[in-house]
Amino acid sequence: MKKKISRRSFVKKGLGAMALASLPLGLVEISWGKNNPQNFTFAYISDSHLTHIKGTEFVRNFDKGLKKAVMECNFMSPRPDFVVYGGDLAQLGKREELEHGLEIMSALRHPVKWVIGEHDFYLDLGKFWEDKISKTTYSFDHKGVHFVVLNSILTYDSWMKKWKTPQERMSNMARLDNPNGSPFMVGERQIKWLKKDLANVSKDTPIVVMSHSPLYKIFKPWNFWTDDAEKVQAVLSPFKKVTVLHGHVHQILYNQIGNITFEAMMSTAWPWPYPVSYTQKPNQVPKLTVFMNRADPFHERDATGWSILNLENGRVTNHYKLWENKDRVLRYDEKLGAPVDTLYQDPAKRIPPQEHY
Ligand SMILES: [Fe+2]
Ligand SMILES: [Fe+2]
Repeated sequence: MKKKISRRSFVKKGLGAMALASLPLGLVEISWGKNNPQNFTFAYISDSHLTHIKGTEFVRNFDKGLKKAVMECNFMSPRPDFVVYGGDLAQLGKREELEHGLEIMSALRHPVKWVIGEHDFYLDLGKFWEDKISKTTYSFDHKGVHFVVLNSILTYDSWMKKWKTPQERMSNMARLDNPNGSPFMVGERQIKWLKKDLANVSKDTPIVVMSHSPLYKIFKPWNFWTDDAEKVQAVLSPFKKVTVLHGHVHQILYNQIGNITFEAMMSTAWPWPYPVSYTQKPNQVPKLTVFMNRADPFHERDATGWSILNLENGRVTNHYKLWENKDRVLRYDEKLGAPVDTLYQDPAKRIPPQEHY
């Protein structure tokens, strides 16, 4: 008997094809190797920054980015086991912004794991988030991988006391190039929790840590930085395969420190250019341990898009799908002990950073 195609399934299929043809934003898929019985995928959406422009009207472009990512997640095949939201759902931390984000995210057909960003946190210090959305520090095991979620955008008490109102706190803590802005940190309490959480995890177990800010130091004036990153790295360093996935920087960025591979997830809202001092004052930033090709700061949609990650033998291969449908693959190279970009697959052809800049 011929299977009847309902209008609903036709619409679903039509939208699926459309979603594939027009690239979604800020989406990541992760899976184990093909022959591994533990194969799984999950999706990653980050940095939507939903906010009003006037009155009650939300910025359409930002809404659209998140809606496309949600739609794409719903049509992923194989189905993702869960979806991660990587932080900065809101722009000004307002309840109505977070509620608007939750409404869009409610269209997802998959469970969501939440990571808090500074734009979600600093108005009410995470109260709405923790009451209505999620804890900010937790871990879970999934098909042989130990996942850890950290709140990496906390700050020192001395900095918290500087702000007279919640609005002042939010505007100072969530801005680039602000001399009054404070450093982000994980804090002693969470580090203690992390040690305890990892105490019974075998050193061979692949670990995926998800934080909003990068758990290494990139550029302080823009808070592309976690002040106590080294302390977190020290707790993670005895484990053989560790991947830190973070949002916040709105660009393609990766690094390798010891056993820890760091990969930035793209934004659904806008790309940040690379900090000026990368190119003009290289001494201000740590020496790059891995060369990478920079996104073009003059190209509006550069470094927004989505990617598919294969997690094989505990190492991530990241297939970035850029806005203009260009493919770019970032693969961990066992010999090199670091991620290698397909643009520079042959290490002999890699251009030293100083020549490139
Ligand atoms: Fe952001
Ligand atoms: Fe952020």
